[in-house]
Parts: sequence; C-alpha cells; structure tokens
Amino acid sequence: MIRKCLFPAAGYGTRFLPATKAMPKEMLPVLTKPLIQYGVEEAMEAGCEVMAVITGRGKRAITDHFDISYELEHQIKDTSKEKMLDGIRNIIKNCTFTYTRQNEMKGLGDAIYKGNVLVGFENPFAVVLADDLCVNPDGDGVLKQMVDLYAKYKCCIVATMEVPDEDVHKYGIIEGNEIEDGVFMVSNMIEKPDVGEAPTNQAVIGRYILTPDIFDMIKKTKPGKNGELQITDALCDQAKKGMVIAYKFKGKRFDCGSVDGFVEATNYFYNLEQEAK
Ligand code: G1P
Repeated sequence: MIRKCLFPAAGYGTRFLPATKAMPKEMLPVLTKPLIQYGVEEAMEAGCEVMAVITGRGKRAITDHFDISYELEHQIKDTSKEKMLDGIRNIIKNCTFTYTRQNEMKGLGDAIYKGNVLVGFENPFAVVLADDLCVNPDGDGVLKQMVDLYAKYKCCIVATMEVPDEDVHKYGIIEGNEIEDGVFMVSNMIEKPDVGEAPTNQAVIGRYILTPDIFDMIKKTKPGKNGELQITDALCDQAKKGMVIAYKFKGKRFDCGSVDGFVEATNYFYNLEQEAK
C-alpha cells in the first residue's frame, strides 16, 4: 500500500563543511556506501519501489548515483571489483527514482510539500531523512515496522525515541497517551522546544508515514521555529483534528547530521564488517 518514499535532500549540510561545499551531504559515505543509499535500502525493505527525492542546487551526484554508469561498468567488467556494485545495481533495477527541486530553503514542511508532485494525493507515503541512519539488528528495519503499524492505524505515524533533556532543543517533541506498548496517540507536538518548554523527552526522528491530506495541513501551516515551515506544526494540527501516532521504534538511530553521530555510525558498521570476516 505504501509504495513511495520521499527523501528530502535539499539541505546544505553546513555542519560538514568543507566536505559538503561541492558534494551533497547525503552522499557522504559510511564505509563505502553513501548515507542516502542506507535510507533507500530501508525503504525497499519496507516495500517501497518509488524513491522520490527532493533535491536542490549542487545535488546532481545523487541523481548520478542512482543511475547506471556505463563507463564504470565497462571498466570493471569481469574484475573482482564488480561485486562492489551488486547493491546499487539491485536498487537501480528494482526502483524508480523521481526528482524535484526545492528552490528555497523554507523548512522540512515546505520540502515535503514540494514532494506532492512526486507522491500524488491518492496514497499514503513514507518520508526518510537520510541524516538519520537507522538499523535494527534484531528484526525489521524501522520503516518496515512503521508500514506494518500503518496497516492497523491508517493514519500519519512518526518514529520517536527518548532523548536526554539537553537534546530536546534539537528535535520535534511529542506528547501523547500510550495506547499499546510503544504506540502513542499524539496530543501535542512542539518543534525544537527549550528544555523547560518540552512536555516530554520523546523526540521525533527522521522517519514518517504520511497520509496525503497532510499536504492540505501544510498549506494551512504558518512558518514556525526559525521562520521555517515545520512538518511538526502541520502534524500537530493533524493530531488535534484527527489522529497521529508516535511509535517508539525498535533498533538504533545514528545522527549522521552531526560529526559525532557520523563517526559512531562508521565505527558501528566497521565493527560489523570485522565481525563478519
Ligand atoms: C527535523 C525535524 C525535527 C526532527 C528531526 C529528526 O529537524 O524538523 O522535528 O526531530 O528532523 O532528525 P532537523 O534535524 O532537520 O533540523
């Protein structure tokens, strides 16, 4: 039912300058794989086959990555290196990539709104922020867990995790009643509150399932935190008028939008690889 996944990827990635001066932050590699490819693989595992990317200026490397490179294929044909392309070949073969640009940086809500031309108004869709690299060594990936939950609740779902007080100002924070183990009916959401202002420590991470009526909600939303159109505000209205679920996902999330989180993810995957040898 959820076939399309939106990847907002228009941001500048200023925390990684100068690396991101001429290269999209989504293309930074964790070991040998760019960040966005981890997100695409998670979306595929969840059943998505259309990857809709919101790009911006200077992001052409993303488009090229998810396309065949005939020169490269020719160069490495019948060499031992060929197998290094197995993963990306499989993605290119099984998914369709669509793109549109966010021309101005007006916030995540605006970026998602721009995606309406790619995901349409008929069906629910997923959103993955590639900065948040998620793994679940014990079972289904985070997006798959959410798609399964969608089958039951048929409403917008945000993935959440507990964060310490000093970090609440970095996230959308939710408030709600637990209706089953790890599943909350959202009553309020605040984008990047100060510690004193945060109703809970339950933070939204970059995984969403959205129903297409969210586009109407975004259209009605005024610019919020930092003068940007926040998806958190649109979802808060949605929660008050209808229903939004927050889901404490199973697994681990690395904040690859920060250098610390990026290094942590790199170490995690490096150790995994070493153990497998
Ligand atoms: C965005 C959202 C925020 C969410 C976060 C998760 O913020 O606006 O609500 O908690 O992603 O990573 P950003 O990190 O893009 O500033």
